[in-house]
Formats: sequence, C-alpha cells, structure tokens
Amino acid sequence: MPANLLQEAQANKSAIIANRRSIHRNPELAFEEYETAAFIRKQLAELGIAYREIANTGTVAHIGSDGPCIALRADIDALPIHEESGVDFASLNDGKMHACGHDAHTSMLLEAARLLKRRERELPGVIKLIFQPGEEKLPGGASIMIKEGVLKDPSPLAIFGQHVNPAAVTGEVGLCSGAMMASCDELYWTVGGRSGHAAQPHLTIDPIYAAASIITQLQSVISRQCNPFDSGVLSVTAINGGFAANVIPDKVEMKGTLRAMNLDWRELALESIQRQSSLIAESMGATCELTILRGYPPLVNNEGLTELAATTAKKVVGDSNTASFLPKMWAEDFAYYAQEMPASFWMLGVRPPDVEEAPGLHNSKFYIDEDALPVGAAMLAGVALERLALC
Ligand code: NI
Repeated sequence: MPANLLQEAQANKSAIIANRRSIHRNPELAFEEYETAAFIRKQLAELGIAYREIANTGTVAHIGSDGPCIALRADIDALPIHEESGVDFASLNDGKMHACGHDAHTSMLLEAARLLKRRERELPGVIKLIFQPGEEKLPGGASIMIKEGVLKDPSPLAIFGQHVNPAAVTGEVGLCSGAMMASCDELYWTVGGRSGHAAQPHLTIDPIYAAASIITQLQSVISRQCNPFDSGVLSVTAINGGFAANVIPDKVEMKGTLRAMNLDWRELALESIQRQSSLIAESMGATCELTILRGYPPLVNNEGLTELAATTAKKVVGDSNTASFLPKMWAEDFAYYAQEMPASFWMLGVRPPDVEEAPGLHNSKFYIDEDALPVGAAMLAGVALERLALC
C-alpha cells in the first residue's frame, strides 16, 4: 500500500507545493497562527474532513469514525527571522520566516489527510490529524494542546511526526530508536556585587569575577556529575555587565541553556547548577539569583513504533534511503506527546541531490527541495495505515 501512496502524492505534487508556498509566504509566529489556521481549516473543509478548533490556533481533525485511533502531528508556526532564501515565494511578513520547515510539515500532513480520506471507507479505525501551534516557543503548543484534550475523544494508541532535515538528501528518511532529542531548560542568572573604582577592587565586590568563576566552574556539572553514558550540555550564551574600563559594576546578567537526555539527570543537573551558582557567588561575597525556565522534556521514540516506521520507509523510499538518524541535543515539543503514548518521530531529507551543503534549520537562507513533500506525505499516511493494520 505505501508504494501507491507515494505515486498518488507525486501525482498531486503541484497542489502540495502550492499549499506549502501559500503558508511560506505568510509566516506567523508561535501562538499567532490565525491565517495559517484558517488556511488549514479551509483545506480540510474542501476535503470533507471534520475538524475542531483547539488551543486557539490549533486544529484537530478525524478521518474514520470507529475503532482504534492513530495520531499524526504537524507543527505550523514560523520564526522571528528576516528571510534571505531568495525564493520567489519568500515571506511577505517582514521579520518572520518559515525557517524550520513547519510550512512543509503542514502541507505534508494536509496531503496525508487527502490520501487517507480517499481510503476512509476501508479504514479499520480512526486517524487523528493534529495541526499544532507554537512549537518554537515555551511552554510549547504540544503541552497546551494536550491540556485542552487533543489526545481525548478518541485517545490515540500511537502518534507519529516528522521534521525536515537539510543535512540529509531528498528522499531519505532518518530514524532513531529511543532518546532522539534532549530536554531544554533556559537559565537566567543575575550575579550581584558592589560597584566601585576598578583600581580599588578590595573596596568592591566584583560580580564580573564571580560570574567568570560561575561560568567556568559549572562545566564540572557536566564533566564530573553526569554519568559518562548519559549526555548533557550546558552552554552559557550571553553575558552582560559593566560599562567602563575603570569601573567595577554592581551586577552581571547571564543566559544559557541546559540540555539533557534523561529526566533524572536533568533534575540533578538543575539542582546542582542552582546550588553551585549560589555557593560560588557567596564564597566571593557576591549573590547569585538563578531563574530556570523549564522547557521541553527529552524526546524518546518508542522502539517498536520506530521499527514500524522503518518498515514503512523501506516500502516508501526503499532500503537505501532508509537511514539511521543519530540523536541530537536539539529539543522538540513532540516530546510531550511521546510522554503520553508510544511515539515515533523521524527526519525527512530535504537537501537537493546536487547540493553538497544546504543552509541549516533556523538559518535565514534556509530552503527545502520540494521534491521531498510527496515523500513526507506518503510516510505519514503510510505509518498510520501500517499501525492501524496491526490493531
Ligand atoms: Ni522545527
């Protein structure tokens, strides 16, 4: 069946591309996807697919009415980036861009909807289509959609999602069993001291020196406290303080991110960062306040479901295009669905075959090879059918 799916999607390629370009031209930021949602709902209505609005700009649709349920998810939001891709359907909304391919994810799920709708009468169950807002912004649209009941009435047995990957060639499907992406927490430090003349440091409390000590010392959380067989990253990404060469300032502000591959280690690391930051500052007479903005949990793919996705990929794109994807310390709010039920998320190659290195995700020059769109649509429809066939 999946082989036919790809042929059918390829026959409809110009329509998939037209949908993708419409969304690309009109990017909207997280939780503001009003026109994008209206576009999705119009397409679903034209396909005769019933849907309901959820979480403001989210949409959930169902194909089939009885039996076990399988869910497919696409994210729909864009990024605050000024587009420099040079495509002739570039963003019309200055300062906003679909630089993470969510326009492609949405158009592929719409095409999967069309393919599945054509088979609705033979479906042995229900397929739930989730068009989710706000992937790019904490607390993540997925967590809000779940709170508002997207996984109820009916509750799916499994969920699948995909992400475009400009590092892989068009037609390649990259799979990863187990932990695939990391948790991400944002860290905001304020180191407080006492300002004064730079020539008389003994009369001040130097927050710059304290901040520097905190930055270097905290790497021991990763190197000395993380089990070498677990993974963690702590990056301090911003440091702001001071204004003159001869003045010790009274505070320094820093930002950073913690990434972890398992929940227990993540909690330990956050506690340790909190404790050490305070103690180091205190040992120098300074103070340190750390605010932690908790982000997404690690994304863990179900083993059996990922095997099923690999079997589907072999039927859709062939053995040679079915690849392994190595885990990354990126984050993805699909992780919230994966905490609720067996889930599998794969990467879809979108780099043109004649290009050696394409601009990465979140790059202002990011673009995709649109030949990948029918492949992703066939994969989504294919895994849903394969999983339902097991029920
Ligand atoms: Ni993304």
